[in-house]
Amino acid sequence: MEIPLAYVQSLDGFLTDSNGKSPTEWASPEDQEYFKQLVIETGLVIMGTNTYEAHKEILKPHDGLLRVIMTRAPEKYASVQVPGQLEFSSLSPADLIASLENRDFKKALLAGGAKLYSSFFNANLISSLQVTIEPILFGTGECGATGIPINTHLQLIDTRQLNTRGTLLVRYKVV
Ligand SMILES: NC(=O)c1ccc[n+]([C@@H]2O[C@H](COP(=O)([O-])OP(=O)(O)OC[C@H]3O[C@@H](n4cnc5c(N)ncnc54)[C@H](OP(=O)(O)O)[C@@H]3O)[C@@H](O)[C@H]2O)c1
Repeated sequence: MEIPLAYVQSLDGFLTDSNGKSPTEWASPEDQEYFKQLVIETGLVIMGTNTYEAHKEILKPHDGLLRVIMTRAPEKYASVQVPGQLEFSSLSPADLIASLENRDFKKALLAGGAKLYSSFFNANLISSLQVTIEPILFGTGECGATGIPINTHLQLIDTRQLNTRGTLLVRYKVV
């Protein structure tokens, strides 16, 4: 399965601002639109419960889109589960991907957060990294690369400037 990982960060490398606020509060409209289209085009998004809890009010159902939330306690979410749209799984990253492959999915977008990036990188499942760099400095916050295997090598695919303020999208293949 092809598994791109996508996130937006401050220029100094943080996923959340100094008050712990998510990108919906500070990422540029151009990045938010790019990410929305990426999610719809991919059709399958995986995230952890902390990311889900931080964004659940704005996660609207969309035809042809499955969101899988990873948690050790899927039973806690039984009342909001909608098979085929919003599912909760306690499988390991490798077992989850195998089960999605059995359902004929060929691509999954890993959308967050840092704990899941670490689990998927350490299981050798990430195929590419798409990072939006916002021209903003937070000084502190949560770093996207926390817990990933040291010395992970990447090869540039392309770069794109998303707006006149200088928001940059950089895409790398994991080699
Ligand atoms: N800048 C960005 O692009 C971006 C993107 C996404 C998120 N974020 C931010 O990042 C924060 C959340 O990130 P986070 O790292 O704290 O949490 P996370 O990765 O979203 O979720 C971690 C939780 O997922 C569950 N989980 C189940 N299986 C797991 C596994 N194999 N590996 C790791 N976790 C597993 C665990 O909760 P249970 O107790 O349920 O088992 C774990 O505590 C939020 O503030 C969000 O806004 C930023």
